[in-house]
Amino acid sequence: MVHVPVLLHEMLDAIRPRSGGVYLDGTLGAGGYAEAILLASEPDGRLVGLDLDPFAVERAREKLQWYGDRFRAVHGGFHEARGILGSLGIAALDGAVIDLGLSSDQLEAAARGFSFQRSGPLDMRFDPTSGEPLFEQLMKISTKKLEEILATYGEERYCKKLARGIVDALAQGKLKNTHDLAELVARVYGKKREKIHPATRTFQALRIAVNRELENLEIALRDIPLLLKKGGRFCVISYHSLEDRAVKLSFKEKVKDSERWSTFTLRPVRPRDEEIRANPRARSARMRVLMALQAQATEPSAEPVAGRDQ
Ligand SMILES: C[S@@+](CC[C@H](N)C(=O)[O-])C[C@H]1O[C@@H](n2cnc3c(N)ncnc32)[C@H](O)[C@@H]1O
Repeated sequence: MVHVPVLLHEMLDAIRPRSGGVYLDGTLGAGGYAEAILLASEPDGRLVGLDLDPFAVERAREKLQWYGDRFRAVHGGFHEARGILGSLGIAALDGAVIDLGLSSDQLEAAARGFSFQRSGPLDMRFDPTSGEPLFEQLMKISTKKLEEILATYGEERYCKKLARGIVDALAQGKLKNTHDLAELVARVYGKKREKIHPATRTFQALRIAVNRELENLEIALRDIPLLLKKGGRFCVISYHSLEDRAVKLSFKEKVKDSERWSTFTLRPVRPRDEEIRANPRARSARMRVLMALQAQATEPSAEPVAGRDQ
């Protein structure tokens, strides 16, 4: 199933793309947002799209090739946006968006190891060309550290039992794929009934840790606003409370300087019931928007960074 963009109209209302504008989509995914921004900024708005996933970048390049040089896809992280935009000679943006988490395409590709419903390798990297897959990271981790990850990123109440179970199973060679991991979590939960599959939180926590998702978000929250032109907007769509809290705190801190920043989302924008019915994945989405009241970008990025494919 192709990824269905979440809060698409709300994102467009927030970013208000226009011809001549320069935009950043920090998470290309299946290219849904990117195409909508390109269409809404016809005839000559430009968009740079980034993704850590080289397959997503390749697909977006192909899908959006018709937009010619209005669109540029780069294999890189949104936390590297300043450097990447600098290397493309772009000093300032009219709008930027990051849509966090993973896409349906990634979730459904068993070989990526994101899903507890499909047996695949213990990988979970957004960028399979760099860093270590989950399995290798788990082989080195202490029980204490794993417990902390499950507790913090998964709000997992059986974190202790699960961490011990995972470390023991690895030592015995009994944890080889996502199926084994999902079974292990189900065994720890036993007959206790849960609203969601008990492995949901474990998989979420491990994915966040493997990809350093919260660290990358913090960097993006620091850097991307500083690329905005006067009136430029930065829109963040998040899918769990840890991410939303980080966005909320960061924007709240900024708008204390009311001459410089504003936000029209004191409360996060949430999907309407019809959207959730049509796309249950939208259920947990929250969007927040920051607007620069003064030009923030004064000079190109200090350190240009090439994309991972340049
Ligand atoms: C929810 S999807 C984006 C969907 C997209 N808005 C669309 O309309 O198709 C999230 C994407 O963000 C990517 N991603 C996650 N962390 C990233 C990071 N730090 N930098 C760039 N891309 C990232 C994932 O690989 C995934 O493709």
